[in-house]
Amino acid sequence: MGINLRGRSFLKLLDYTPQEIRYLLDLAGTFKNMKRAGTPHKYLEGKNIVLLFEKTSTRTRCSFEVAGMDLGLGVTYLDPGSSQMGKKESLPDTARVLGRMYDGIEYRGFSQQTVEDLAAYSGVPVWNGLTDQFHPTQMLADLMTIEEKLGRLKGVKFTFMGDARNNVANSLMVACAKMGLHFTACAPESLFPEAWLVEECRKLAEASGGSVTLTEDVEAGTRGADVIYTDIWVSMGEPDEVWETRIRLLKKYQVNRRVMEYAGPQAIFLHCLPSFHDTKTTIGAEIAEKFGIPEMEVTDEVFESPQSVVFDEAENRMHTIKAVIYATLK
Ligand code: CP
Ligand code: NVA
Repeated sequence: MGINLRGRSFLKLLDYTPQEIRYLLDLAGTFKNMKRAGTPHKYLEGKNIVLLFEKTSTRTRCSFEVAGMDLGLGVTYLDPGSSQMGKKESLPDTARVLGRMYDGIEYRGFSQQTVEDLAAYSGVPVWNGLTDQFHPTQMLADLMTIEEKLGRLKGVKFTFMGDARNNVANSLMVACAKMGLHFTACAPESLFPEAWLVEECRKLAEASGGSVTLTEDVEAGTRGADVIYTDIWVSMGEPDEVWETRIRLLKKYQVNRRVMEYAGPQAIFLHCLPSFHDTKTTIGAEIAEKFGIPEMEVTDEVFESPQSVVFDEAENRMHTIKAVIYATLK
């Protein structure tokens, strides 16, 4: 049966079947080849999209802008604090206004409910560019990169290290469970994903041939892994006060040479970025001075090593986001 995603929102991966995810990955591959070959693909000329950001961004914003422009779309960017939404105008009112002017809406912000409500009220496809709970467009880029580098998704041993209940980790667990990967969260128990989501993912993994494992043991969690993935220890929207406890909890879950040796030479390293792997950022330098750690979730050595494919992964954000825009607006 053909897949048709026209008119659909992309709010979380839980809403999509493995076949639909497969379709988006294949479409992203087609767009990547077209971009490389210089083949124009302004298939959506005459349509317009708006990008609504309540948190900062480099990759997601630029991916939506470039993908939109490559597809011939008009693109409006609203930065954090520059729209009336929430302050002078309710979310349902803003959604209905944007839905009258635009063919699609990207939203990055805090609550998952906001992006769900935008979709309910606007009447046009809404794409989740990250909420506190999920980061679904990131997942398509991650799956695409794994498949490009390892040649398969099914059966891949995938380990996430760090804050395993953040938006990226939650989404990775869902993505792996849907697509038949063996997902391991390697983290302190207090940062394990929520029980309901683990249960949901275990059911999905049963159907796909994957699995979901939670462990506090670094060696057990990383030995023989094909993919080692980490994310920043404190996410956008969390108060600065949590740094101290988070560092204490997660220091032992840093991706370093020892972890990559447990995994083995076949393993690749992924990170959604941005990353604190040195002191060349203001926050990185502040943390180094305050807590005496110059590298956080990943060492500079691993980040810069041949096993690290983080910039291929970042590029794939654009190709996969283009697939989502095209499939839902065409
Ligand atoms: N990975 C990611 O979403 O990056 P940005 O915060 O730069 O968009
Ligand atoms: N967990 C991170 C992801 C950034 C892309 C955050 O929410 O800040």
